[in-house]
Amino acid sequence: MTALPRALPLLGHAPWFALKPLDFLKSLSSHGDLVRIRLGPLTACVVCHPTLVHQLLLADRAFDKGGLLYDKLREVAGNGVGTCPASAHRRQRRRVQPAFHRDRMPGHAQVMAEEAATLTAPWVNGQILDVPNAMHRLTTAVVVRSLFDPGTDHSSIPALQSSIGALVDGITRRMTWPLPLLHRLPTRGNRRYERARLHVRHLTDALLSNLRATGSDHGNLMSLLLAPGTDGSLLSDAEVHDQVVTFLLAGVGSTAITLSWAWHLIGAHPDIQTRLHDEVDAVLAGRPAQLTDLDSLKLTGHIATETLRLYPPDSLLLTRTTTTDTELGGHPLPVGTTIAFSPYQLHRRPDIYATPDAFAPDRWDAIDKPAPGTFVPFGAGPRKCIADTFVLAQATLTLATLAARWQLSPIPGQTTRPVGQAVRAPHKLSMRLNQR
Ligand code: HEM
Repeated sequence: MTALPRALPLLGHAPWFALKPLDFLKSLSSHGDLVRIRLGPLTACVVCHPTLVHQLLLADRAFDKGGLLYDKLREVAGNGVGTCPASAHRRQRRRVQPAFHRDRMPGHAQVMAEEAATLTAPWVNGQILDVPNAMHRLTTAVVVRSLFDPGTDHSSIPALQSSIGALVDGITRRMTWPLPLLHRLPTRGNRRYERARLHVRHLTDALLSNLRATGSDHGNLMSLLLAPGTDGSLLSDAEVHDQVVTFLLAGVGSTAITLSWAWHLIGAHPDIQTRLHDEVDAVLAGRPAQLTDLDSLKLTGHIATETLRLYPPDSLLLTRTTTTDTELGGHPLPVGTTIAFSPYQLHRRPDIYATPDAFAPDRWDAIDKPAPGTFVPFGAGPRKCIADTFVLAQATLTLATLAARWQLSPIPGQTTRPVGQAVRAPHKLSMRLNQR
């Protein structure tokens, strides 16, 4: 294992990670397959090689959830399915998995189409759209309606959207600058984070009591959480709360970020935009996209996949901790070592993807099944994103439905870059709407 040079006293590599996280991550693979970095008091071993990342993700007992990211996430999501240890995971995953079963997808796709119609209803020709905000509004409504309805108060969706954003920002800040004292200071950012925590808790409690009052089985995530498990056990309110927060945190922002980057990339590549319009005109002829259209929307699907490769959302460094003395790629790793991997770093390796920084949706024509560890926007193994199929469907159907009626054009002179310390939404992405 190589120790990354240029560690500063006390701070280690935290300034480089915090100031230029994407460049920092891209540079790591030139130092080796396993690279030791230091962020303030914390040391992590970053796995840069795809085969080793795949091994890491399959061995979820030896490399359990923990380390920088998950220690911070547990402060808000407790021990939900995304943060719980491997020993509790199989049981939890079995309970929530049916919410994403193939049979439920037509219902989810219907909600996606309805929410796209609600989003675009007030749009007017020539209007300037705040793209990340609009996409966030859309994905918040889709997740809330697909997983928790009835029982949610739809008028609270904008406030919920803002609180989830504040929570994700706070967690990312706490992860990139792991100096606990900084996060106890009464700064604006810290106060916003605390307010958001309370707000999400309050909303979840309200949701729970509404649903307990109606008590019916809607077959969605919320019903699964309230029903007895396969062993007959019921979840406590605290456990239900952890799951709800987990799904809100995991589910709302990431798809919005992907859609926002996709619009930016499409707008910046007029040739792809023309081909996208040709595809959606041929398949949809102006109507909203349905689940059954997915196979015909080949280019649209490849745009979504290529966007996830270039800008895998919220996944700067995903972390694990070793539960025993172990090894990876022949490197000994003592118990308690923090291990990390970065989808962004893997997706930008020139030895895996030719011209890795280029937006080239057609590259996916030649890739049937990516080699293990080379395309991991959703992770892999037992802890792989529970909603990967849902997300790919949502991204493809939403891009197609909107592109069938609207063209989103870049504003001349506007420069776009990732905002903040994670692969988040593009910074200040406004685009002009033109009715087609
Ligand atoms: C573009 C969209 C999304 C991306 C890129 C994404 C990415 C990921 C990744 C990388 C993981 C694994 C993390 C790790 O191994 O440490 C994960 C797990 C998870 N995601 Fe997603 N996600 C997305 C959307 C969603 C949505 C829409 C939901 C739910 C509504 C969701 C729910 C979850 C849950 C519950 C887990 C934990 C799974 C487990 O540990 O069993 N995600 N996601």
